[in-house]
Amino acid sequence: MNRHSYVEFFRQTSPYIHAHRGKTFVIALEGDAVSLGNFHSTLHDIALLQSLGIRVVLVHGARPQIDQRLALSGITSDFHDGIRITSAEGMLCVKEAVGSTRLQIESELSMGLPNSPMHGAKIRVLGGNFITAKPVGVRDGVDFQRTGEIRRIDATAIENQLIDGAMVLLSPLGFSPTGETFNLSYQEVAAQTAIALNAEKLILVGRAEGILDGADLVRSLSLSELEDLMTSSPLPQQQLLNSAKQACCHGVDRVHVVGCEIDGGLLTELFTRDGSGTLLMRNHKEVIRPATIDDVGGILNLIGPLEEKEILVKRSRELLETEISRFMVVVHPEGLLLGCAALYPTSEQGSGELACVATHPEFHGQGIASRLFDAIVTNAQQQGLDKLFVLTTQTAHWFIEKGFTEANLSDLPSQKQSLYNYQRKSRIFSRTI
Ligand SMILES: CC(C)(COP(=O)(O)OP(=O)(O)OC[C@H]1O[C@@H](n2cnc3c(N)ncnc32)[C@H](O)[C@@H]1OP(=O)(O)O)[C@@H](O)C(=O)NCCC(=O)NCCS
Repeated sequence: MNRHSYVEFFRQTSPYIHAHRGKTFVIALEGDAVSLGNFHSTLHDIALLQSLGIRVVLVHGARPQIDQRLALSGITSDFHDGIRITSAEGMLCVKEAVGSTRLQIESELSMGLPNSPMHGAKIRVLGGNFITAKPVGVRDGVDFQRTGEIRRIDATAIENQLIDGAMVLLSPLGFSPTGETFNLSYQEVAAQTAIALNAEKLILVGRAEGILDGADLVRSLSLSELEDLMTSSPLPQQQLLNSAKQACCHGVDRVHVVGCEIDGGLLTELFTRDGSGTLLMRNHKEVIRPATIDDVGGILNLIGPLEEKEILVKRSRELLETEISRFMVVVHPEGLLLGCAALYPTSEQGSGELACVATHPEFHGQGIASRLFDAIVTNAQQQGLDKLFVLTTQTAHWFIEKGFTEANLSDLPSQKQSLYNYQRKSRIFSRTI
């Protein structure tokens, strides 16, 4: 990557860095990911998220590691409905396999060698008896023995560790008030933890590159589309979909399914527009709404580069703060500000100025400005306006395609005429609404 494209790439990721900072992400790491050759990179990418101010709860699986231990001890274990039946002697292997997988993750996160991606990261990893479990019991006449399900998650204790700046590492084991240990599904632990913490995201990282519909990768999915896919999916995908659905239905807005075999898959998913895996969204659509004072920073980020290029007239933060009620914004489900436009009523009755129309460069051509324009027109009509005008230097044709026609300086309200900037030489357009 040359210097220019590196700088460009870095700038393009910054809105995502801002959007994710301070948010809680629960990451479920499949046991298979731990045994892959690129496990270091996967874990170091997770550590990078923590360094960027994301509050990370990492939940690991250990299925292949448990299989290996059981095989070494000559113990066979059966599955029913994709859930392992854990015998008392099998449980010893489960504890060993889970314990050593956990240690492997902890030691990897403690790395700090110069010239390694972890140099200077100083990740503090914490765990504890955060999960209370109960036995699955007997179902369909099958006794699941030491296989358990979650009874309660101590969200306050986890939250306290996150506030303290630690990464919380959860293993798929839970304890009962009677002192027994139960083998849990790591996906279930992750989904329930995300719900208990009211996390912004649940991210399921495993061998699957995402959710597949036949052989095709599904890039984004709504809850209703998920239901349709559920029946036609093979069992492992059904389990992924189940966890995703459970989390989404109980308040987690975004669930991502990301492959760990592709180098940097997690970072691509979280810091680029197109992502790498599948995103399940509770709220699928972006929102158009009046701007609030909290949007000032986002609007400045959006219009700053356009002001530099003199496409838009410069506005100070103070001016923007006082005029914020004039703005409408489009906000991505992830919280990113995608577009803005402002409506200024003028001294002349019935007319208003449309100004500061801008769309985030990564989201051009998706109809965002058009939808904003429609919202501004509705807003103007509600205020009793019947005419809009706009001053532009480089975007004349966009407004012409929206039904504007060229006008003269004398057509502007008198107050606006006196403020006309003759150096800027903006063209004037107007339209009845
Ligand atoms: C103009 C702008 C707001 C359009 O945003 P957008 O969300 O991409 O707009 P939409 O998706 O609704 O419309 C896209 C269409 O407008 C066209 N378009 C974009 N900029 C244009 C321009 N300067 N002149 C003519 N057409 C333009 C696109 O080619 C596309 O047409 P197509 O679908 O036929 O290819 C965006 O390009 C932008 O932010 N520009 C910089 C700021 C600016 O010029 N603001 C206006 C000054 S007030």
